[in-house]
Amino acid sequence: MSQLFSPATLGTLTLQNHLVMAPLTRCRATGNIPNALMAEYYAQRGTAGLTISEGTSPSPNGLGYARIPGIFSEAQIAGWKLVSDAVHPKGAKLFMQLMHCGRIGHPLNLPAGARILAPSAVAAAGEMYTDAEGMKPHPTPQAMSEADIKIAIAEYAQAAKNAVAAGFDGIELHSANGYLLEQFIRPNSNQRSDAYGGAIEGRARFVLEVAEAAIKAIGKDKVGIRLSPYGVFNDMPLYDAMAADYTYLAQQLNARGLVYIHLVDHSPQGAPEVPDAIKQMFRREFKGKLILSGGYDAARAERDLLAGKCDLIAVGRQFLANPDLVARWKGGAVVNAPDMDTFYTPGAKGYTDYPTLGG
Ligand SMILES: Cc1cc2nc3c(=O)[nH]c(=O)nc-3n(C[C@H](O)[C@H](O)[C@H](O)COP(=O)(O)O)c2cc1C
Repeated sequence: MSQLFSPATLGTLTLQNHLVMAPLTRCRATGNIPNALMAEYYAQRGTAGLTISEGTSPSPNGLGYARIPGIFSEAQIAGWKLVSDAVHPKGAKLFMQLMHCGRIGHPLNLPAGARILAPSAVAAAGEMYTDAEGMKPHPTPQAMSEADIKIAIAEYAQAAKNAVAAGFDGIELHSANGYLLEQFIRPNSNQRSDAYGGAIEGRARFVLEVAEAAIKAIGKDKVGIRLSPYGVFNDMPLYDAMAADYTYLAQQLNARGLVYIHLVDHSPQGAPEVPDAIKQMFRREFKGKLILSGGYDAARAERDLLAGKCDLIAVGRQFLANPDLVARWKGGAVVNAPDMDTFYTPGAKGYTDYPTLGG
């Protein structure tokens, strides 16, 4: 019997299947406010068990990329309500991914008065896209003061409340892929000498305090987290103590009772391998749900679920290109290929116009 297509539990929620739509930044939120086109896109994919929204900023300071949404204003809450009202009738439960870009941002992408913040004033290598001037080098961020840290934690907690007010079933803290929370965890980007830097107990402090604040705001059954051990995206080099650091994190997150840990594995796209041993370590140390992602098709998803390697499977690009992915996988049908040229472009093309099996 299929495990993949049978109902699953997540905290107090029942999911209609074990398939999760992975968070996918699509840059359609003009003015950083979710809109009717986004509601249509998410509703088309509402047959997932759990839909995780694209990275959404808890603060003006976190809006690093062009046209990504936020969840700190009334207009954004109202915009996201359009999305939850459209998705829930399709059956999927909905978590909002809270993504503060930190140093992976550019002033040209930020509203007036917002700041590029990070644990330390260390610029990431590489460039990023801006609507105003095309590709630009990553700027040197401002090192966060203790007051900045307190404000950021409060912004995450308020964003979690706002997500619930917008009809979401919970939030996912984006602590992966080189954004602010991971910038604190990793020693290359965190060179602080105060309580938020140094040994892993210091480098993990910010993410754990953010998790605690979010839990206090909306409850532990509504708070998950995404991590990318061995991820190198956005200038996050490998280092010797990686396994030990993430073991500490797994234990500390377990102690706080988050509802899930969601692991990134971009090795199918050419990133360094994420060792099986580290995934097994998370399975062992963390008693909540474990979500695995990265290059899954139906057969591999079924295999890993049946083997007990994880509780849920998240899928990115195939969901992006196939609004009816669940029906296609169920029926063993061919899938549409994703069009990379329209991943981040404004408008409906390559967004809401992928064909379904019925036409
Ligand atoms: C267009 C695009 C946007 C993405 N945006 C996000 C994001 O906002 N947050 C995040 O955690 N991961 C993001 N990812 C990574 C995906 O969630 C996922 O980990 C990745 O696509 C690998 O899974 P897949 O092989 O099923 O596509 C993005 C990936 C793509 C292709």
